Amino acid sequence: MLERMNHTMHEENRQGEAYAPFVNDPTAYNKKFYIESYGCQMNFSDSEIVASILNENGFGATRNFEEADLILINTCSIREKAEQTVRKRLSDLRTVKKNNPGALIGVLGCMAERLKAKFLEEEKLVDIVVGPDAYRALPGLIAEAETGQKAVNVLLSREETYADISPVRLDSNGVSGFVSIMRGCNNMCAFCVVPFTRGRERSRDPHSILKECTDLLNNGYKEVTLLGQNVDSYYWVPENIETGKPVNFANLLEMVALIDPSLRVRFSTSHPKDITDDVLYTMAKYENICNYIHLPVQSGSSRVLQLMNRTYTREWYMAKVDRIREIIPDCGISSDIIAGFCTETEEDHQDTLNIMRHSKYDMSYMFFYSERPGTLAARRYKDDVPEEVKKKRLDEIVKLQNALSRESNQHDVGKTFKVLIEGNSKKSDQDWMGRNSQNKVVVFPKENYPLNKGNYVMVKVYDCTGATLLGKIEP
Ligand code: 5AD
Ligand code: SF4
Repeated sequence: MLERMNHTMHEENRQGEAYAPFVNDPTAYNKKFYIESYGCQMNFSDSEIVASILNENGFGATRNFEEADLILINTCSIREKAEQTVRKRLSDLRTVKKNNPGALIGVLGCMAERLKAKFLEEEKLVDIVVGPDAYRALPGLIAEAETGQKAVNVLLSREETYADISPVRLDSNGVSGFVSIMRGCNNMCAFCVVPFTRGRERSRDPHSILKECTDLLNNGYKEVTLLGQNVDSYYWVPENIETGKPVNFANLLEMVALIDPSLRVRFSTSHPKDITDDVLYTMAKYENICNYIHLPVQSGSSRVLQLMNRTYTREWYMAKVDRIREIIPDCGISSDIIAGFCTETEEDHQDTLNIMRHSKYDMSYMFFYSERPGTLAARRYKDDVPEEVKKKRLDEIVKLQNALSRESNQHDVGKTFKVLIEGNSKKSDQDWMGRNSQNKVVVFPKENYPLNKGNYVMVKVYDCTGATLLGKIEP
């Protein structure tokens, strides 16, 4: 899920510095931490848990690493490029360390988990290495590092969900918040490093999820996105089965939707094999559950899908898309696509282009295959598609997606949507930017209406670009 810098959701806007808007008193802390996050939304969400743990232990957030006592990089391993970006960032930190020699440097997240103590040998300036399930150990590890020792904890857990920790919202727009509902992944897609870096799948107690969503609402938020590697396999069993009932994802969605009709609900990511009719009917039933599904296909060839261990065929996936459109006719659908997986032929590639046309994706995150050490594919198959072929195929996939996105947007011209305002548009403070239920970005002039971010407004679309709908407020 994103060097989600180019992967899902709003990652492209979310890289970099962090601050703690809920904390008003900077003197409440005697030390400062700086945190930078890479990768998927889950990683950004984890950084907010880390911020909370650090706040509890006397560290306040700063956006300036020159003044930080602790500099943390929350890392991603999904593709080689993601790891290279982190290495580059660490080498930049060498200069920072010269000006601020007392600062401790910690690496968190998936790359920490993958490389473990090897990180300390490879990157001499790193003091602390912490995997995604060990953040509660951070205060102890910092204390250890303060004595000049290197500190590592990369234990994975079968239980940890950080359920009781209230995340400190970092870099948030104050309108849309992310709530992690589960951790880890049991799917074992052949290309993917996540099961190795984030461990076994486990679901978080629904009461703590509802509480976190309600807290967000009470702090003025208008939208929650429920996060997990595979949200549709969410399944929580109460300790006492006599007094409580198990909760599946459709149940959880309904519970969150019922918190307040003005609170929009989104979720990501869905594995096509696990999204059920029950989930689709629940989406159709509640107006505040957004009509948008991120449904990664990865490849359109049944043969390649089998090698990838995706457990569905091309026909099965297409039937799922048809089912979504039947139950939720105006549903937005997006995808993740990998070009040039092991043994992929030109015919397989054409199958991918065709399934894209069938699915009419509104948007996709597109990558060429990058072999990751330790994965099923790295152990079993040869990474045998030449780089120029991967790039050419990726290029064709991107071109087709651009055409599909444009078509999908043109289809919306003339329609009116309920838009949740997220803030000023990037280009002008005379324009608002928001999203419709389908997750499309809508930009429109403020005119003289007394509106603010966090408000809903009806907007009529009169034009579009490939990525944005252009509208006007419907009086
Ligand atoms: N190479 C290229 N892309 C990958 N993804 C996951 N692993 C790899 C890999 N080894 C993509 C998949 C996934 C998204 C988060 O990243 O499309 O859905
Ligand atoms: Fe997220 Fe980790 Fe996967 Fe990167 S490797 S996308 S951080 S789960």
